[in-house]
Amino acid sequence: MKTIAIVNQKGGCGKTTVAINLASALAGLGQRVLLVDMDSQSHCAVGLAVPEEQIEQSIYDVLISRSRNEPVKLSEILWQISDGLELAPASIDMSAFEQQMAGVAERECCLKDTLDDVRDDYDYVVIDCPPAVGLLTFNALRAATDIIVPVETGYFALHGLSKQLETLSVLCKRTSQEVDVKVLATMYDIRTKMAREILAELRNHFGEKMLDTVITFNTKIKEASSFGQPISEYDPASKGQKDFRSLASEILSTKARQQRHDYVNSLAGQLESISATADELLKATQTPEKEVESILQDENILSDHTEREKEFASVEARAWEELESEVEEIEISTDQETESLSLPVEQTAEERTDAKLSDYYGVDQVNDAIVFVTLYPRAQNVQIAGDFNNWQPQETPMQKVGDSGVWQSELKLPAGRYRYRLVVDGQWQQDPYNELTEMNPFGEYNSVVEVK
Ligand SMILES: Nc1ncnc2c1ncn2[C@@H]1O[C@H](COP(=O)(O)OP(=O)(O)O)[C@@H](O)[C@H]1O
Ligand SMILES: [Mg+2]
Repeated sequence: MKTIAIVNQKGGCGKTTVAINLASALAGLGQRVLLVDMDSQSHCAVGLAVPEEQIEQSIYDVLISRSRNEPVKLSEILWQISDGLELAPASIDMSAFEQQMAGVAERECCLKDTLDDVRDDYDYVVIDCPPAVGLLTFNALRAATDIIVPVETGYFALHGLSKQLETLSVLCKRTSQEVDVKVLATMYDIRTKMAREILAELRNHFGEKMLDTVITFNTKIKEASSFGQPISEYDPASKGQKDFRSLASEILSTKARQQRHDYVNSLAGQLESISATADELLKATQTPEKEVESILQDENILSDHTEREKEFASVEARAWEELESEVEEIEISTDQETESLSLPVEQTAEERTDAKLSDYYGVDQVNDAIVFVTLYPRAQNVQIAGDFNNWQPQETPMQKVGDSGVWQSELKLPAGRYRYRLVVDGQWQQDPYNELTEMNPFGEYNSVVEVK
């Protein structure tokens, strides 16, 4: 039995979509497959039309009851989805897993032990992970023989990638498992030049650590999940279905190869090297500042013509002018000193690109207001939860800026240090554009803002 965990602490990068459709495609190729949902949002059940209100027991009950006298059996909670595919659904109470298990010995092995009991019943287990590195994800990592990290092929996705992989690697240092980690390019939009370039760079850098199959951006995939069907059922002739079928075939053929070579790799080591590669990759795709404008265009940030949008564009232009004059000042002052002190031009351009992106997104104090700006092109709803609103996301919704995918919100807060997280379509995550973070008691990161 192979156990494939779909992991990436970034929300919205396609984990659940990959989990559901890979599981279904493997079943379509005659494999006996179990899909395990480890995300309390229960998106696997939603995406497979399992009525949430009828889920009486979930994988949570199985995991939590292992140490009790009468543990809940995995077979008691399963839903038959199609021939060869079963679902172990999640439930909202899973978000309390970490607290419930505090102090329990071997608490990161609950899922592994559960799956060990059924290893003769399935060929593949596919685990959908939550968008966070906590005890649930750690359980999935411990149970895994294979890990797939879906990566959206967009400039902004690369920005957080190495940090995310690094966190995973730190988490895995505690174990010395034999697992195979692969990067999967998802939501690939062949029409944009930037996506093509990023895919080429990904291939170039990750080499054999990257799956050959690429999942293209296909609206049928989105539609399928809103109808509660895997793409194989919703539209068997679609490009999306072809992609997932070829992903499943690739995985089946890798299994055969692995058995021949019987190669062993340590999880932390692999993640570390993938993370270093992600850093190099980001440097390689660091674009000179004159091209950033066109990248932002590509990502549809400046293309909307609403007033709000123009306002953003002008804020951005002003930030640029300021940056340029700052850099000029630095250049002038180094001119006057010895040559060895002058800044390398290339690095300055890189730094300016980064500065520009972090200037635009993230959190910033403007006079007496705190302005949050972020980019989620596919989200329906983005909110902020923090200690300033008692962690009640509905108190602080973010506003959509035209159709650009940019969201923003303005808050007036007294001076102090505040912790917050973004809630994107119900999923809690750290602000990807704010470097200032603090670990919370659940082992996840809160973003931090200082108000002066
Ligand atoms: N290849 C794709 N083409 C089109 N839409 C996609 C694709 N992959 C994911 N999506 C959509 O993007 C959104 C986020 O995907 P999801 O799988 O829920 O991400 P995650 O589980 O990482 O949060 C969903 O609305 C999903 O339908
Ligand atoms: Mg998900």
